[in-house]
Amino acid sequence: MQNDVILRGHVLSFLTSPFATPTAEDATRISEAVALSAGRIKEVGSLAEMQALLPQAPVIDHGDKLILAGFVDAHVHYPQTAIIASWGKRLIDWLNTYTFPEEMRFGDAAYAHEISERYLDLTAANGTTTVCSFATIHPESVDAFFTAAQARGQRVITGKTCMDRNAPSGLRDTAQSAYDDSKALIERWHGVDRLEYAITPRFSPTSTPEQLEALGSLWAEHPECLMQTHLSEQVDEIEWVKSLFPQARDYLDTYEEFGLLGARGLYGHAIHLEERERHRLREYGAALVHCPTSNTFIGSGLFDMEGLMAEGQRIGLATDTGGGSSFSMLRTMAAAYEIGQLRGRPLHAAELIWLATQGSAMALRLDGKIGNIAPGMEADLVVLDLASTPAIAQRTNRAADLWEAVFATVMMGDDRAICEVWINGQRV
Ligand code: GUN
Ligand code: ZN
Repeated sequence: MQNDVILRGHVLSFLTSPFATPTAEDATRISEAVALSAGRIKEVGSLAEMQALLPQAPVIDHGDKLILAGFVDAHVHYPQTAIIASWGKRLIDWLNTYTFPEEMRFGDAAYAHEISERYLDLTAANGTTTVCSFATIHPESVDAFFTAAQARGQRVITGKTCMDRNAPSGLRDTAQSAYDDSKALIERWHGVDRLEYAITPRFSPTSTPEQLEALGSLWAEHPECLMQTHLSEQVDEIEWVKSLFPQARDYLDTYEEFGLLGARGLYGHAIHLEERERHRLREYGAALVHCPTSNTFIGSGLFDMEGLMAEGQRIGLATDTGGGSSFSMLRTMAAAYEIGQLRGRPLHAAELIWLATQGSAMALRLDGKIGNIAPGMEADLVVLDLASTPAIAQRTNRAADLWEAVFATVMMGDDRAICEVWINGQRV
């Protein structure tokens, strides 16, 4: 059983989305302390109030540091950990040259275990407490990841990546085996402790219509599961999709046609969307996942945050490791800021942090459990040092208010800024 504890510092909570308030700060509240009990957030308020609630609890005083919900990375590929930052290719070449050969190795359960542990170590060091990851086609890669997360008490989502064409032999399943293996994994893992299964067709170019249909049926049988995939990442990819599915009205239609469009659907990238696609995604309340370091690294394009937010889309933020170039959600927020600037809409630090916590939790339909500091939420927290390097410290010294200091860390910070991480009420 987790012990009671009180953390003191600048405790950041969101009252609502900063995209919905006149100024971003209006959506936030800064409190003096947060009380943790039995793996959950008991209350937020002044130190005296927290001590009245938990008189026996030790107080950890974090001074000027910022205490916020742990980062939620809504789209990653943990099996790409070892090939992050591979040079010089665009999406399809990058997959064939770097990604598929590496993913081939995950039939080896020992290797899948080693990379699962390494990935969860790296992300925890970066303040990420929940991820939604693609695995590989191998059920072993799902077992390894869930086993590693379960031992850490960590809330994660993953699923067996399904591909039955346009991938090397050794990295292909079939429509039937994808259905059978995914179903067996759902039965083994979904809802166990803090683990959730996501049905995972990689993207429509690597699935036959038969496989998409089988996975659509599986989702209909298991509507409690999320479904994750990729959508409209690169222009060449979209052309390829249209040639593979000549009947489809657009890229999204290749999912919609087979029952793979829904409120619990997660669509990674979603950069080059057509009007009909935007309309249908909005109608279903599906989630779009912005992967800014990946979109610049692989050269995919500039996500339309402002337009998509304005039309009421559900949007999460993600590293897309290893197409993304970092494990850090701070680096990811910085990239989202830069892409916002290139599109003429600078995002406020509160908006960026909201995307990396509550926005992603909403995309994963977990906002009742994680992504904010509020009573009853699971105690996944990060303590951020706002002066973690000499360069950041001198800027923070000059800051006129807390948000100016936070912005410097969002733009310039990395794992050195993460001074403490709490998962499930335990310091890790
Ligand atoms: N599209 C299909 N598979 C992938 C992948 O592994 N990474 C990225 N960035 N895009 C994809
Ligand atoms: Zn991806």
